[in-house]
Formats: sequence, structure tokens, C-alpha cells
Amino acid sequence: METIKVNLGQRSYPVYIGEDLARVGKVATDFHLGKKVLLVSDDQVDELYGEKVRASLQEAGFCVSLAKVPPGEIHKSLSQTIKLYESCVESKLDRDSTIIGLGGGVIGDLAGFVASTYLRGVDFVLLPTTLLAQVDSSVGGKVGVDLPQGKNLVGSFYQPRFVYADLTVLKTLNWQQVKEGLAEVVKYGMIKDAEFFGWVEKNLERIKALDLEAIDFAVRRSVEIKAKVVEADERELKGKRQILNFGHTIGHAVEASSGYRSYTHGEAVALGMIGAAIIAERMGYFPSPMVERLKGLLEAIGLPTCIEGVDEEKIREALQLDKKVRKDRLHFVLPRKIGEVFLTAEVSPDLIKKTLQDLTK
Ligand SMILES: NC(=O)c1ccc[n+]([C@@H]2O[C@H](COP(=O)([O-])OP(=O)(O)OC[C@H]3O[C@@H](n4cnc5c(N)ncnc54)[C@H](O)[C@@H]3O)[C@@H](O)[C@H]2O)c1
Ligand SMILES: [Zn+2]
Repeated sequence: METIKVNLGQRSYPVYIGEDLARVGKVATDFHLGKKVLLVSDDQVDELYGEKVRASLQEAGFCVSLAKVPPGEIHKSLSQTIKLYESCVESKLDRDSTIIGLGGGVIGDLAGFVASTYLRGVDFVLLPTTLLAQVDSSVGGKVGVDLPQGKNLVGSFYQPRFVYADLTVLKTLNWQQVKEGLAEVVKYGMIKDAEFFGWVEKNLERIKALDLEAIDFAVRRSVEIKAKVVEADERELKGKRQILNFGHTIGHAVEASSGYRSYTHGEAVALGMIGAAIIAERMGYFPSPMVERLKGLLEAIGLPTCIEGVDEEKIREALQLDKKVRKDRLHFVLPRKIGEVFLTAEVSPDLIKKTLQDLTK
């Protein structure tokens, strides 16, 4: 089992990368958590791994209740939050109790939000089961739910006591779900580590086959990179954490303008990364062969490289809306080279339009 520490003073925590969820009970005992645990999962993940986790926790002496949420982003909602508060009450959780989220990013964000607010905060543990959750959402402490008006509009920063990522559970994901995580893996290479980007290019076949050694390295390096960025700017106040939004400015607009139907988040981020790369190329920051290299890798993964079926004007409208919500100028994270990005508010509306027109051809 490997450990990556997220260093945040009193809120520091380890991310364990291992191969056996049945060890969770034993790991949890080292954290001197209270005896009562509410395990939050979705129906699908519970069916696959719930019993293993429950048995492991019970064997370690924990008293476990289960709260199940139906799978899907639509259930990352306030109504499910209320249901979970009710489960907390029914299970008689107290200030010493722990909420454990077992599942993908939806369960992590939802369970974390409930943990951050129930009794003004109870202990929280994450057992991420999708590649996206292992490389991205389980690290950094952003928890929250969606409103009908937009994604992630209600939430807080709340760090878990520990994260345990079992790589073997990824075997039951379908390829579409794996790609969701790989888009973020490519993002980490682009923002911080050219060598890692090259390693992903070289080892893509092994990653696709979910070869454990390759997946282990991909997850570990991604978590290390995200942890470092979060450590430098936990609450996104210093302009440093924003680099994690590389590909997400256009990405979010593509998702929103198509009503979250045409493209998944990972696909939209792939398109957004190419959009940002083209903008940087045209502003003279990023060489064209590098744009091609990024496109090549995304294509090899099977992520889209041009936008189909979404109107360019609609995407620009969604970008404006994003700006209005944030009461701010539109910020872009642009690449300078593979492995280095910077934040800027100096991208002209004309250039955005031209880039989107080219992407939607
Ligand atoms: N908090 C953060 O910093 C952060 C960062 C990125 C994304 N997110 C959030 O994460 C969410 C997306 O997460 P996701 O992509 O993991 O989606 P998800 O949680 O909806 O999981 C996707 C599907 O996979 C199933 N599943 C999960 N693990 C499985 C396994 N091992 N085998 C088989 N099926 C499995 C689930 O039941 C679900 O149907 C979004 O809500 C997004 O906003 C949060
Ligand atoms: Zn993302």
C-alpha cells in the first residue's frame, strides 16, 4: 500500500493507494474514529463492494449503518442531502461518528457535504471507486451538491480524515467511465509534468487494459500533482488552484450549452483543453506541434477533438453566463508548454469566437 500525504496543517490527511478494500476496517482503526459509522454509497457500487467494506469495518469493531443513494449526477441534490440527514438521525450519529463515502465523485461530493454540515461537521472518509474519483474528486476537499440552476452551486471545503483508493475496483468500470478519469490524467500532465504526459503517451495500451502497475502509477502521479496544487492554495484564493481548471472553462460551457446531454464531463474537458491550446497557440504562447501532440493523445484515448452538434454561439452564451455568475472577467488557463500553464484574463472575445468556430467545424 502506498501513501501520499496531502499537507494542509491540521487538516492534513493521507491518500492510500492499495489493492484491497477489505483492509479499510484495519486502516480506519488507526485513526481513532468513533464506533458509529454511516456508509453512504449508490445502489450500483453497494451491490459490488458494499458488503466487503461493511464486513471489514464490522470486523474492526465499527457499528455500521448503510444509506443508499440512486446512482447518477441528478441525485447529487439537496433532496438526497435531506434524506441523508434523516439517515444520520436514524442511525443516531453523534459528534464522534464518521460518514464514509463509497463510490464515484457523486457519492464523494454528496457524502462529504453531509459530513461537513451534520452536527456542524463529523469525520469523513472517502473510498473512491471510479478513476475520476481516485485521481481527482477525492483529493482537495471540495464537497457539495448541484442546484437545478447549475452544478456544484452549494458546498464547502471539507477535508477527509483519509482516502483509500482500491485500484482493483476499477475493473468493473466500463470504458466510458475510465475515459472520464483519463481526461483529468492528461490534464495533470499538461499543467505540471511533461514527463508524466510522455509516460501516458507511451503506456496508453497498458492503461487501457487497466494493467495494475500502469494504473497505479497513473493514479499516484495524478494524486501527487493535485495534492501539491491544493497545498499551495486550499481554498482557491491565491490564483494557484485555478490551474486545475485547465480545459474546464470551455469544457463547462460545452456541457452546459448542450444541456449536459451531448458530451460527458471528460469529453467536454478534452475539447476545452484543445480549445485552450489553440487559443494559446494563436496568442503566440504555445507551439503548434504541441497542439497536435495533445490532440493525438486525446484521440488515442478515444476522447473527442472537435465539437459536433452544439452551436458555437450557444457555447459563447454559456461562457458569458459563467462570467456573470462569478462577477468577474473570463479567465482562461493556457499552456505555455506541455507541463506548464498560466492563468490569464486577457483572451479577446474575437479569439474565443474564432477558436470555437474552428472547433465546431
Ligand atoms: N470534489 C471535487 O473536487 C470534484 C472533482 C471532479 C469531479 N467532481 C464531481 O464528480 C462527479 C462525477 O464523478 P464520477 O465520474 O465518479 O461519476 P459517478 O459518481 O456518477 O459514478 C459514475 C457511475 O459509475 C458507477 N460506479 C462507480 N464505481 C464503480 C465501479 N468500481 N464499478 C462499476 N461501476 C461503478 C456509479 O454507480 C455511477 O453510476 C461529478 O458530480 C463532479 O462534479 C468533484
Ligand atoms: Zn473535471
